[in-house]
Amino acid sequence: MLEANWTGTSTVPSRSLYPHQWSWDSAFIAIGLRHISPYRAQTELETLLDAQWGDGRVPHIVFNPSVPLDAYFPSPDFWRSSTAGRAAGAPRTVQTSGIVQPPVHALAAWLVHRADPGLSRARGFLTRVYPRLAAWHRYLLHGRDLGGGGLASVVHPWEQGMDNSPCWDAPLSRVTPAPARSFRRADLDHGSAEDRPTDLDYGRYVRLATDYRDGGYADGASDFAVEDPAFNALLIASEHALARIAGELGATATARHARAERLTAALIERMWDPAEGMFFCRDVRSGGRSDGRGEGRSGGPVGELIPERSVSGLIPLLLPTLPRDIAAALVRTAHGRHFGLGDTTRLAPSYDLLGEAFDRHRYWRGPAWFNTSWLLERGLRTHGERERADALRAAVLELAAASDFAEYVDPYTGEACGATGFGWTAALALDLLHSETGPQPETEATAMTGFKGGNRG
Ligand code: SER
Repeated sequence: MLEANWTGTSTVPSRSLYPHQWSWDSAFIAIGLRHISPYRAQTELETLLDAQWGDGRVPHIVFNPSVPLDAYFPSPDFWRSSTAGRAAGAPRTVQTSGIVQPPVHALAAWLVHRADPGLSRARGFLTRVYPRLAAWHRYLLHGRDLGGGGLASVVHPWEQGMDNSPCWDAPLSRVTPAPARSFRRADLDHGSAEDRPTDLDYGRYVRLATDYRDGGYADGASDFAVEDPAFNALLIASEHALARIAGELGATATARHARAERLTAALIERMWDPAEGMFFCRDVRSGGRSDGRGEGRSGGPVGELIPERSVSGLIPLLLPTLPRDIAAALVRTAHGRHFGLGDTTRLAPSYDLLGEAFDRHRYWRGPAWFNTSWLLERGLRTHGERERADALRAAVLELAAASDFAEYVDPYTGEACGATGFGWTAALALDLLHSETGPQPETEATAMTGFKGGNRG
């Protein structure tokens, strides 16, 4: 699958539905590729980082100029990165989108380095990627701190990656949809309409992206701004990884680890709900804007929690330094009736099985995705839940193969949904296959953070 999707410099998520390079897909793909070709895994990440903007943002799509414009919407002529993005430092030689995706890249770069440190050092891989990854995190932590509490906000559902999650229904309801006639969806040429977001959702995605573009991709004005637990947990995991990279390059890692710990504290303060035993998204545009110190009118954090249970709210389990009681609660919630893991479901559904908006086939409103299960597997193993991690790993491997490496599956039956031949499904299955049979020289959680509590392997 990874051979079939390789273009020579990067890997497409899917030949049909997603024929360009996607940011977080490439990070997950590199994590799998490192086991068969560390060189290709490095190239995958470097191709993406070559398209980084001057302000530090790493675009969510890097367009392949040889793919026809109508093969994917929104195409380069919609985003107009080299003109509309000029003030934000968009590259001139390559066309990209103007939004971002979850920052899995530093974590991926560190894992890719660890797969073959000799090759990595000989090629100066970390020396080249470190300043770019540092600039990427700077952009998120400063340019995107729209809630004023130190965490990053997403300004479009495509940025968080779970496009049509019910979490966005309330914040998106404030956005006027672009007229249906003003764009043509290419995704419906390749995917079943029941598996994809609705036309109404698309109208709102297009409106948000158009307004962002027409404002020169400057941050701060968006009507949609949400702090998301998975996005920020991945940023924190990547910040720890960046600290390890700095250490490998002979620089001091302490300040970065300390910052990651401050971000973990902010994540808990702003998004943890002890009664529900999970994290929730914070809509930083509801109830008025930030006063600049991250506080809303009530004196608490700006905005309001969005009361929808998304798998995103379980993903902070990935963080090795999460307090023990919070990790234990997340494990209980994942295996409880809302997500049913190991009981009614074998992979975690993207959304609450009991939620009103649950739909077992429609993109991020219920189906189970392989990347979120990979992150949860890692979290379970990190927090000593070996049997549960083994069960989840077995389920990923079995369902990935049985579904022909589907993009996502029905959480109850494992029936394939969306595209088949999906890049990160293949790559992450490969990674778990390797961790099942291959040597475990150092626990990855320990390698990632220096934290001694991890017990991977
Ligand atoms: N996931 C979005 C799509 O379906 C954009 O990244 O096209």
